[in-house]
Amino acid sequence: MLQESKRIKSANYVSNYEAIFACPICHSTMKVIQSKSLICSKHHTFDFAKQGYINFTSHSIKTKYGKELFEARRKLITEGSFYKPLSHAIAKVINEHVGEKKETITILDTGCGEGSHLSTICDTVSSDFFKSVVGVGIDLSKEGILSASKNYSDKIWAVADLANTPYKDKQFDVILNILSPSNYVEFNRLLKSDGLLIKIVPQNGYLKELREYLFHKPEKQSYSNAETVERFNENFQLADSFRLSYTLNLNKSLIQLLVQMTPLTWTATEQRVKSFLNKDSAQITVDLEILIGKRQ
Ligand SMILES: C[S@@+](CC[C@H](N)C(=O)[O-])C[C@H]1O[C@@H](n2cnc3c(N)ncnc32)[C@H](O)[C@@H]1O
Ligand SMILES: [Zn+2]
Repeated sequence: MLQESKRIKSANYVSNYEAIFACPICHSTMKVIQSKSLICSKHHTFDFAKQGYINFTSHSIKTKYGKELFEARRKLITEGSFYKPLSHAIAKVINEHVGEKKETITILDTGCGEGSHLSTICDTVSSDFFKSVVGVGIDLSKEGILSASKNYSDKIWAVADLANTPYKDKQFDVILNILSPSNYVEFNRLLKSDGLLIKIVPQNGYLKELREYLFHKPEKQSYSNAETVERFNENFQLADSFRLSYTLNLNKSLIQLLVQMTPLTWTATEQRVKSFLNKDSAQITVDLEILIGKRQ
């Protein structure tokens, strides 16, 4: 009963924004029908799940990102404030570049995972800068979107490929792309002409203490993002970029969450992971580059 009402509530909310959708199969316009499905003019139909999200993929795609990883990520973001300086920095960038011109800002997070970044950023933009925000999040992982729609009901969540999104051209003021793959052709298509792309890439110091502890081979210890940054520059006009670096002291329970939330532990030996988990506290560095792009 409760879940049924969540599906209806979400379908009714999405119907206010149905104009942004385009069928991912035939690209025609879409409508919410019977508080239950999104249907295009050629009758391709996508149902709202009982948790309120829409699945636009035609077959289930297994990603390596599972329920446990997303749950740990959510707790580290919301309870551990692990990425708080990042969400504040992004909210500030959005306000500086877009805020002055708009009362309502539409934000799409591509590869949003379990949605805590999008939720925190939307909350900060509206509370600190008094803007009305529409938040839309997509990820290929059903586990991620399931968690997002369970925890954050005032957003539009969809299981979808960021290379073939279910939205019309030029619908978004801001596209976020946080530690996720990019598709610049699609991002260009989706952004309004004065829209902003904000891409977050890890830098050399990102989780360096954990990487140094887990791996002995130097190539696994460092990130090289020169190619990623180069590709960004080829496709978008770089309006600004800056590095955000800080070190946190994690207690034992936050250490457990860190180990669960990062793909780094997938390739480490069990013994090294266990030994890291036995620590009572650990200093961990977050070192990120924030790339801010405009359409060329
Ligand atoms: C490292 S995670 C980052 C998740 C989230 N942005 C965060 O920082 O917590 C990368 C995410 O990209 C998603 N992803 C990978 N390829 C994708 C695609 N083609 N379309 C949509 N999402 C994709 C994965 O499912 C995963 O959730
Ligand atoms: Zn269609």
